[in-house]
Amino acid sequence: MNSIKFKNNRLYYLDQKELPLREVWRECRNLRDGFQATRDLQIRGAPLIGVFAAYCVCIHANNMDLKKEDFLKNLRYDIAYLKTCRPTAVNLAWALNRIEKVIEKNSKDSVQQIKQALLKEAKAIHAEDVALCERMGNFGAKLIKKGDRILTHCNTGALATSGKGTALAVVFKAKELNKDIYVYADETRPLLQGSRLTAWELMKKKIPSSVICDNTAAYLMQKNQVNKVFVGADRIASNGDTANKIGTYSIAVLSKYHKIPFYVVAPFSSFDLSIKSGKQIPIEERSGSEVKKVLNKLYVAPKAAKTISPAFDVTPHKLITAIVTDRGLVYPPYTKNIRKIFGV
Ligand code: MRU
Repeated sequence: MNSIKFKNNRLYYLDQKELPLREVWRECRNLRDGFQATRDLQIRGAPLIGVFAAYCVCIHANNMDLKKEDFLKNLRYDIAYLKTCRPTAVNLAWALNRIEKVIEKNSKDSVQQIKQALLKEAKAIHAEDVALCERMGNFGAKLIKKGDRILTHCNTGALATSGKGTALAVVFKAKELNKDIYVYADETRPLLQGSRLTAWELMKKKIPSSVICDNTAAYLMQKNQVNKVFVGADRIASNGDTANKIGTYSIAVLSKYHKIPFYVVAPFSSFDLSIKSGKQIPIEERSGSEVKKVLNKLYVAPKAAKTISPAFDVTPHKLITAIVTDRGLVYPPYTKNIRKIFGV
């Protein structure tokens, strides 16, 4: 399953706002399209927005027919702008920083050569992401026992990455290994990534599962129906504090209370070692209409109601049993052990 395609120098993406009702592929024709598609969550999930942004810069560069000085000036300015479209997932800045390095390294070359170097780097970021998912799936599946009943939040599968996923890659691998698992997918208010996207992916893979309202998790835990939790991450600080979809923190607290292991699954590109703790993670605030209307259509709150709509929350590292990365499992103490996997 793919959620983006780069073919004949054209970039296409599966519009995730249309799922699960319709599978609609759209073309990203320029930087403005890319910015808007990411901002509107037509394309989403931390690793995927990084890969998509890298390709988007290539499209933008190819659209420019300018002398080198102007080409470079515009490119640098527009990449900085693209970085602002979603502030929490560090993968966006991570991928665009790599693209910027390629521009600096090749700035003495011709415009054509720079364009080629950009595409080479975007393809490398894409291929790496596919491989990282595979590795996380393999490491994480070792934590799963036959018959486990797993709770997950938001969407962390093929729709959130350019490979198999992060937390869902673990689930997919466990299924391949016939571990006889059952998955509960939190619906994930307000934009329903769990019920629209995770349930869709789980059904495609024929994994036994149920969609639950976000507020059902505690009930199931109390009844011993959940014995492991796997979630993804949008940014992990040096001390292991993890930003992920709003509602993740409440599940972590519930897991601690019910003594259920709580695992975060993320590639190295989701770590931000420039910050010490989760307090420094910028949290995206989204429009109140996403809370007041179901899928931007039907009002389920008074039009004039005030809203608070952070897209992410931060789970303190103390609530995390282990972090599954593409480099292996990381256990507490996180500050020390994260440094170890990064070799710093
Ligand atoms: O707002 P979204 O849908 O982009 O949020 C996605 C998540 O929170 C995922 O859990 C996260 O990106 C990690 S999954 C690869």
